[in-house]
Amino acid sequence: MAVATYAGGRWSAAELKPVGPVELSPAAHVLHYASTCFEGFKAFRRADGSVHVFRMDRHIERMRQSARLLVLPEPDPVQLADMVRAVIARCREAVPEAPGALYIRPILFGTTANIGAAATPASEASLLVLASPVWDYFAGGMKPLRILVDDVHTRSAAQMGMVKTGGNYAAAMGPTLAARAKFQVDQVLFCPGGEVQETGAANFLLLRDGHLLTRGLDTTFLHGVTRDSLLTLARDGGYDVTERVFDVREMLDWIKTGEAALSGTAAVLAGVGTLIHRGTEYLVGGGEVGPLTRSLRSRLVAIQQGDAPDRHGWLQRV
Ligand SMILES: Cc1ncc(COP(=O)(O)O)c(C=O)c1O
Repeated sequence: MAVATYAGGRWSAAELKPVGPVELSPAAHVLHYASTCFEGFKAFRRADGSVHVFRMDRHIERMRQSARLLVLPEPDPVQLADMVRAVIARCREAVPEAPGALYIRPILFGTTANIGAAATPASEASLLVLASPVWDYFAGGMKPLRILVDDVHTRSAAQMGMVKTGGNYAAAMGPTLAARAKFQVDQVLFCPGGEVQETGAANFLLLRDGHLLTRGLDTTFLHGVTRDSLLTLARDGGYDVTERVFDVREMLDWIKTGEAALSGTAAVLAGVGTLIHRGTEYLVGGGEVGPLTRSLRSRLVAIQQGDAPDRHGWLQRV
């Protein structure tokens, strides 16, 4: 792992260390006040052995935005990119061939030892970059997802949805586990007040002959890099892309003839087969993963794996 620490108003030089326990004061800011954020993105190995990281700049910018909104020291973008490259170089041999990838996980947390700092930001912090090989989510074939539409709970505070911080995932855990136990669903689609937002770890898209509808960027949900990439490819492919607020009723109407899918780094684009709302099950299309979802997903995967031209400059060779 690569490690850098912040103290006295500046970042230390980064070091590469064996992955191991991190020493923290029991009074560390993060343990009491959840001053932490993270990122997740992938690097892909091609048949010729070269390794390419996908949209690292976007992920670094999002991490800096998360840090700003949590009043944590912002990582220096050049240093963080160097740390990511150093980790990839160090575990080059562990980058699986496609459809596997190396998953890269930077984390940032406040380390200032002060349990009286509920309203004082951390002035000391640690930045770590971890990496782990991952296999294709859909190696066993694409299984349509079952999703509970929850119009009661919120995933996060309205101003924090765009921050990739641990507390948001902790908040979504209870409702998601309860929904799994009660309705045997894969995920919960959070729709507070009836407005469709996102699931616990992915954005939500609706597709129908030449049209794509998704919520417009606001503070309530995470601005997915995969979402942005898919919207760009959809526009390139002549789709009419609409980003605006829509509600559960409109979504249930759309899926009578259209498709629904979740987008994110892990699965790229995963088709939804069933939505459950207030005890009623609604099949999406015929209950299978639809052709538009499959085709949009394959277009992005082909670029990521180097099988289609990278016209938008999303990949960086490491
Ligand atoms: C809450 C949430 N929404 C959306 C996404 C998708 O973001 P990205 O496409 O950048 O992976 C993620 C993470 O992967 C997430 O955790």
